[in-house]
Amino acid sequence: MRGIILAGGSGTRLHPLTRVTSKQLLPIYDKPMVFYPLQTLIDSGIEDILLISDPVNIGNFVKLLGSGKDFNIKITYEVQDKPEGLAQAFLIGENFIGNNNVTMILGDNLFTGNENFLKNVIQNFKNGAHIFLKEIEDPRASGVPEFDQQGNIISIEEKPKNPKSNFAISGLYVYDQTVVAKAKTLKPSARGELEIVDLHNLYLKEDNLKHSVYQGYWLDTGTFDSLLAASNKIAELSKKNN
Ligand code: TTP
Repeated sequence: MRGIILAGGSGTRLHPLTRVTSKQLLPIYDKPMVFYPLQTLIDSGIEDILLISDPVNIGNFVKLLGSGKDFNIKITYEVQDKPEGLAQAFLIGENFIGNNNVTMILGDNLFTGNENFLKNVIQNFKNGAHIFLKEIEDPRASGVPEFDQQGNIISIEEKPKNPKSNFAISGLYVYDQTVVAKAKTLKPSARGELEIVDLHNLYLKEDNLKHSVYQGYWLDTGTFDSLLAASNKIAELSKKNN
C-alpha cells in the first residue's frame, strides 16, 4: 500500500490567509496542517508516500518534511502545475503507484480518534475502491452518497443542493492499481477539473465501490470556522493527554 497526500489547490475560501502560502502549511494548533494527514497515513502503516503540491509551495513542503527519515518513512514529491482536480493526482502519481494499491488523503483533512479503524480497513484492503463516510448535519459542501434499502451506495453527487443522505464523503480514499487507468478515461468537468466523483462512479458501475462509516473526529479544514474548530479540537486533545 502506497500513500498520496494531495496538498495543492487554490485555497480561495481562506483568502487572505492563503494568498502567499499554502493552506496545508497553515497551523492547526501547534503543527502545520499537513502533519495531520501525514500522521494518518503513518498510523495506517503506510511507509512510502508521495506528496503533491503546486509549483510555488512544493519547496516549502520539502523543507518541512524532507526525505521523511525523521518519520521513519520515505517521502517523494511531485508538482501539480495547475489545480485541475483531485483525480489528476493519479495521473501525476502513475509511476509512483505502479502495480500497488494506493491510499490518498487530502492535505486539509483531519482525522483523529479512530486510528485503528482506518488502519484495519487500509491494511486489509484487497481490490476496488473504499471510501470513508461521515454522518453530518449538512453535507451540501461535500460529495454525498445515495443508498438503497440494503445500505448500498447507488449514486454519488458532488455538492448537491438537496442531499440524498446525511453522509459526507471524507478526503481519504483507498484504490486498487486500476485507479490510474480509470483516471486516464476521465474528462474535465464544467469547472475544468478531473473529478473524484467521476472516478468513484466508475468503481460504482463495476460494483466495486465499498464504504465504511468513520466514527472518529473528521474535519475538512478549508474554511475559517473549520480551521479554528480543528485547532481547538487538537488543543483540547493535547491538553487532555498531558
Ligand atoms: P478543495 O478544498 O476542494 O479546494 P482548494 O484547496 O483549492 O480550496 P478552495 O475551495 O477554498 O479554493 O481541495 C481539497 C484538497 O485537495 C485541498 O487539500 C487542496 C487539494 N487540491 C489539490 O491539491 N489539487 C487540486 O487540483 C484540487 C482541486 C484540490
